Amino acid sequence: MPRIDLILSLIRAASQSDTNGVRAATEAMANEELQRGHDKAADRIRNALGSGASSSHLGKLSNSSDHIGKLFFEFPAKTGLAQLDLDERARSDLVAIVREQRSSEKLTAAGLTPRHKVLLSGPPGNGKTSVAEALAHDLAYPFNVVSYGALIGSLLGETNRRIESLFQHASSMPCVLFFDEFEAIGKERGDRQEAGEMKRALASLLTQIDALPSHVVVVAATNHPEMLDRAVWRRFELKLVLNPPNYSKVIGYLMQELQLRPELRLIQTLGQCFPNKSYAELKDFTLDVRRRAVLDEMNVHAALRQEITLRFPEIDWPFDDGSDQTSSTTRPAETRSAETRKAKGPQREQKVRKSGPAKKV
Ligand SMILES: Nc1ncnc2c1ncn2[C@@H]1O[C@H](COP(=O)(O)OP(=O)(O)O)[C@@H](O)[C@H]1O
Ligand SMILES: [Mg+2]
Repeated sequence: MPRIDLILSLIRAASQSDTNGVRAATEAMANEELQRGHDKAADRIRNALGSGASSSHLGKLSNSSDHIGKLFFEFPAKTGLAQLDLDERARSDLVAIVREQRSSEKLTAAGLTPRHKVLLSGPPGNGKTSVAEALAHDLAYPFNVVSYGALIGSLLGETNRRIESLFQHASSMPCVLFFDEFEAIGKERGDRQEAGEMKRALASLLTQIDALPSHVVVVAATNHPEMLDRAVWRRFELKLVLNPPNYSKVIGYLMQELQLRPELRLIQTLGQCFPNKSYAELKDFTLDVRRRAVLDEMNVHAALRQEITLRFPEIDWPFDDGSDQTSSTTRPAETRSAETRKAKGPQREQKVRKSGPAKKV
């Protein structure tokens, strides 16, 4: 489901017959779906736009300053760096950027500038967008997400003008300016004319990035660092790779999100069930467990046992190792016994099913 602020932007733009606004909001919705891994939903959103309006009509750009705001969207920045699981190096570099921005006057007085150009790479779902948002949150800057749909014009030469407008507008006050899927603008095109146009657009973008005042923190993100030009890499002062969580980080994340006790042996086995999975996938898993706990009115540990039995039936889970000492001490006794009954259901069933030795995961 797209975010409510995007839906509202879409309704507003549609009611004002603002075709650029409709296109920008639609593109932002499609991008959101893509980020969640919902490729089909993203295609459906884009196709709905394609069938409802001709691209030449949508490509027209009004000369009024009204279109400028639609080149990027301001998103609420709700999560800070403290809520993200980052490796030590990445955290300290990002905290340093925040500190430098906050002390920019001190730096400027000494003839220095705070760093403000960050390039994030790594597989999807491991925190690129979250880090950009967290920088905005911790700096208390607006979090402005660039809309490529609105930025890349269908008319020759239009893109450069839009890029200029975007940077002129974004520079007017401190903000985090986020370019997601940064490779989109640098990637090779089949059509020669389009390739030339995109090359010029990239050159213009890089020139604008060079000239940005240091109060604009530009964050570019890519899942495909290999597609980026060397000229792009050079521009950025801080380059971070955000990797999927390793085994110990998986365990730490699950313990934190599900409030599990460190002595729960179950989570060591569970930790092995998510090799090379992203934080986004881990988050989905923990949300499934918590939803189950609420709907089935049981505590999180019991819901976890049910969820993993269903999801990973091939594993012989170490349920009878003390994991029954769940955090149910604050719950009424009758609820606790109901939970225990429910939780033991699949456990018994499993013991019957699995007579062989524990499988190695
Ligand atoms: N390093 C992290 N620590 C904690 N949660 C994370 C982390 N990375 C991703 N997530 C979770 O996964 C979701 C998707 O991450 P996102 O930042 O959109 O990834 P990306 O932009 O790299 O595709 C986030 O909303 C967040 O809940
Ligand atoms: Mg992202």
